[in-house]
Amino acid sequence: MNKILVTGGAGFIGSNFVRYLLQAEPGAQVFNLDLLTYAGSLENLKGLPDEARHNFIHGDICDTGLVARLVREQQIDTIIHFAAESHVDRSILGPAAFVQTNVMGTFTLLETARQVWGGDFHGRRFHHVSTDEVFGSLSPSDPAFSETTPYDPRSPYSASKAASDHLVRAYFHTYGLPITITNCSNNYGPRQFPEKLIPLMVLNAVQGKALPVYGDGRQIRDWLYVEDHCEAIYLAARHGKPGETYNVGGGNQPHNIDLVNEICAILDELRPAAQPYATLIQHVTDRPGHDRRYAMDISKIRAELGWLPRHDIETGLRETVAWYLENPAWVQAMLGQDGYDSWLEKNYGQREKAN
Ligand code: NAD
Ligand code: TYD
Repeated sequence: MNKILVTGGAGFIGSNFVRYLLQAEPGAQVFNLDLLTYAGSLENLKGLPDEARHNFIHGDICDTGLVARLVREQQIDTIIHFAAESHVDRSILGPAAFVQTNVMGTFTLLETARQVWGGDFHGRRFHHVSTDEVFGSLSPSDPAFSETTPYDPRSPYSASKAASDHLVRAYFHTYGLPITITNCSNNYGPRQFPEKLIPLMVLNAVQGKALPVYGDGRQIRDWLYVEDHCEAIYLAARHGKPGETYNVGGGNQPHNIDLVNEICAILDELRPAAQPYATLIQHVTDRPGHDRRYAMDISKIRAELGWLPRHDIETGLRETVAWYLENPAWVQAMLGQDGYDSWLEKNYGQREKAN
């Protein structure tokens, strides 16, 4: 039986991945280590398929003793590492936690794997989940990021993820640790904390609150439905070549403002209000160092692992908006969380409005 440690499995992508994994590997035992920061919630783990094979451990990936005990005593053979501080705006307002969790946490996991596995790496795998943001920002005519694009991170978040990617590769080259990395573009889908663009816009809109678009709203992200990302991670971890990196993206690249307008149009249909939701759009002061454009070249993962996104943005976005409307208990748990309102005030309170 495979014994798989998933870190950060109570967060957005991690919890979707735990669901995916329990179905993809009927023989696997899953150990989910998560600190339950503001971004992680046991709400995300309700109704798992085959719950008996899922074990939740509340703890910190930086806790060397805990991580070593877990890997040794449970005879973990596969580590899939999601746990991170993940929000760019929070990294601008408070970078320390990003260096601690993303760099030191990843180091702790790598070092534990090296020591507990003791050089016997047969049947073992360390998969690191990373981001396209390590590559920096593209101008409109630049080609999409490939696996060989030089790193050029520009926010404390992306710099900490870049540092962690370098450490993961160093453990392959220096110690032979069998690693794989996926660098993925922006995800969307169910259970994303409402600090990120899509759930924030949906939930602000239905509360009749302003929809804060940074700057001119002409920035571009490459959106991927979360389930497609889970499949890519699974394929890379199980069938990717040790030492290799795979770029993952959705090929959906709208301007932010067009995406927000599309969300408003879906809401106008699914939950009509007195005024069209787009009247709530408010351009506000831009994010400092805001990356203009991301795009991913996915030819390597397509050729080597046969992966392609299954969802287009039209159907994925509609399903996602509907999920937030149909899950009021989850929404209440997130919006009612201690610190959520003060986060909104801290991040949005000082921004000037441009329209
Ligand atoms: P998230 O913020 O929703 O979840 C992060 C999870 O990690 C939470 O459950 C949190 O409690 C946990 N965590 C944080 N610090 C921890 C610690 N010290 N010890 C243990 N657990 C801790 O993040 P997400 O959006 O699900 O992203 C998951 C991973 O995917 C991250 O590594 C992120 O960099 C990467 N990624 C995210 C996206 C995206 O669009 N969201 C895109 C590409 C890559
Ligand atoms: P976000 O979801 O924070 O992801 P990332 O910064 O990792 O790409 O933001 C997606 C895009 O939306 C990004 O260009 C910033 C923009 N944005 C807004 O315009 N307003 C907002 O309130 C937020 C949270 C994001």
